Amino acid sequence: MKLLALAAILFIGAAAQSSVSWTNCALGPPTDMRVDDFTLAPYPLCIGQSVCATATGTLSTDVTSVAWITLAGKYLGRQVYCDSQNVCILLYEQGRWCPIPTTMTSVTICLMIKGSILANVDIELTINVTNGNNHILFCRSGKCWLSKWTSL
Ligand SMILES: *[C@@H]1O[C@H](CO)[C@@H](O)[C@H](O)[C@H]1NC(C)=O
Repeated sequence: MKLLALAAILFIGAAAQSSVSWTNCALGPPTDMRVDDFTLAPYPLCIGQSVCATATGTLSTDVTSVAWITLAGKYLGRQVYCDSQNVCILLYEQGRWCPIPTTMTSVTICLMIKGSILANVDIELTINVTNGNNHILFCRSGKCWLSKWTSL
């Protein structure tokens, strides 16, 4: 019985850590993508490994060069991480070419988490993507667990 209760607690713990509650951080004019669903995988994120952000929704314009993705991480209000990458180069590495047409209903951008970030803490992560036309494509932020080790 005790074992079962412990197993249940561990299960709940794992479930709580397996998803992030994302908020929209594009508070200005309408974005170039209306996002219905956003995921980060694999989660928890691992330092030195690739992570993929997938936004599912509706594009109002093509994703064009030079689109940028910026990952910014804050811990206790201080910036502890920042990385900007060219989205079209990242897409090219997955075998997709810009422009990404509006017929696409999801955009997956994968990039490496660099070593210069705190590990095994909750980081307030902002993922901000601007399109080639300088409009914001989408922006999401949430508390993310950063792991130093690969997930089991
Ligand atoms: C996202 O990027 C745009 C363009 O660089 C910038 O104006 C905006 O403040 C950023 N938003 C956040 C929440 O970082």
